[in-house]
Amino acid sequence: MKLNRRSALQRLGLATGALSLGSNLAGENYFDEIHSWTMPELHPLQFDSPITAITLGAGNRGNVYGNYATAYPDQLNIVGVAEPIPIRNERYAQKHKIPSEHRFETWEHVFERDKFADAIIITTPDDLHYGPAMHAMAMGYDVLLEKPISPSELECRNILQMAKQTNKIVAVCHVLRYAPYFVKLKEMLDQQMLGDLISVQHFEPIEHVHMAHSFVRGNWHSAKATTPIILAKSCHDLDILRWLIDKPCEQIAAFGGLKWFKQENAPEGATPRCTDGCPAEATCPYSALKIYYRDRQRTYVFDFPEDKSLHDEFILEQLRTTNYGRCVYQMENDQADHYVTSMQFADGITASFSMEAFTSYHGRRSRFMGAMGDIVGDMDHFVHTDFLSGKRTKWELKDAVDGDHLSGHGGGDWRLVRDWLQAVKAQDSSLLTSTIEASIESHIMGFQAELSRLKGEIKKIHL
Ligand SMILES: NC(=O)c1ccc[n+]([C@@H]2O[C@H](COP(=O)([O-])OP(=O)(O)OC[C@H]3O[C@@H](n4cnc5c(N)ncnc54)[C@H](O)[C@@H]3O)[C@@H](O)[C@H]2O)c1
Repeated sequence: MKLNRRSALQRLGLATGALSLGSNLAGENYFDEIHSWTMPELHPLQFDSPITAITLGAGNRGNVYGNYATAYPDQLNIVGVAEPIPIRNERYAQKHKIPSEHRFETWEHVFERDKFADAIIITTPDDLHYGPAMHAMAMGYDVLLEKPISPSELECRNILQMAKQTNKIVAVCHVLRYAPYFVKLKEMLDQQMLGDLISVQHFEPIEHVHMAHSFVRGNWHSAKATTPIILAKSCHDLDILRWLIDKPCEQIAAFGGLKWFKQENAPEGATPRCTDGCPAEATCPYSALKIYYRDRQRTYVFDFPEDKSLHDEFILEQLRTTNYGRCVYQMENDQADHYVTSMQFADGITASFSMEAFTSYHGRRSRFMGAMGDIVGDMDHFVHTDFLSGKRTKWELKDAVDGDHLSGHGGGDWRLVRDWLQAVKAQDSSLLTSTIEASIESHIMGFQAELSRLKGEIKKIHL
């Protein structure tokens, strides 16, 4: 749709005189053209038979990928599961009609059997990726591997080595590479719409409740036991920078740490659990009662009983017995809650990245600065300005198409699965952008960033 400055003003309900408000308003809100583009269809794959896969870890991510099989049974058939939590194992097996002989308690048991599927989906916790990945490739399975590849750089390199030796398809779940927003940005950068790229600013606002849920109370509260937050949360961001800039990162430096979620910041008299009658409960934005019970946020981590009338009491029980009910100031957490990173890529391109817990909003934002133009975007839309003509074009991503409500990360989750299935079927890893070869680099950037932050040194990236 074409929209000149005058009609843009009229749309905004402003008189022409509003132009005199000055260049700031004109710069931020007026566009010469507005293009909307809808999420491209998850076009159906034409397979004569579905790819068969075994899921290791039937938690949140195991279900995201499992749900693809439910929606597209002609493309993906889940034929086995390993999951130690009985109710998860049972529900997953029922959903995918998995026979009892293909249900296992832990991932090791799967590899005690002869190969019985085309592929393995690895959605176990971070520290349980290496063993399954190495066994799977050695036994001839193709792999869909959740990020982070592994919490150890050596293990990441070993997985890469094994993938090369066995020639197996290994897709790393760097799902942002498949999100239509980033795909469009990549297309524009590759078309040299900005001329030579000079610098990038990228921002990941985690949102304060998400931070408290995942990285203070939740599974990733300990960097030592799982993965430092720069990998656990932001290997996606380092990866998307590496992919969009399309040049190797040469040096990295990082700063930040854990500032707020510590005992010394606990309100006076704070109890160990929010359910213990804490005097600060009503005035604490991180109250577990507020987040999980009253606002019903992020309750997907609880394995609710079928009977909805029991849910209130079930949540309270979870808050009384699991980490999700504990005071955010009295955890054993060590993850940084603010983290800034500076990077130098080949050809002198620079990038800065900030990961911040203390925001009221989420959704990645970025600014790409080239010699001939710039782009400012926030995952829903971006604005391209051409320096010579001054033309400002806004690109708006319209509503998700059918099925995308189940595909998180801006539609990236299921698009990744589709590309992976295609690659497995054709035995052609070039159909994927997030191969293990392509993904390892951003992990090395993450490991070096963390070393830089801890040691106060600029680190060189050696691949
Ligand atoms: N790509 C992304 O954007 C993204 C987003 C969130 C999480 N992740 C990653 O995905 C992985 C899974 O995360 P999640 O949020 O689904 O966690 P989750 O805790 O919901 O699921 C993990 C499951 O693995 C099971 N498990 C534990 N030990 C096991 C074993 N020995 N054998 C088999 N299963 C075992 C757990 O019981 C649990 O059900 C993690 O590595 C995480 O970092 C990726």
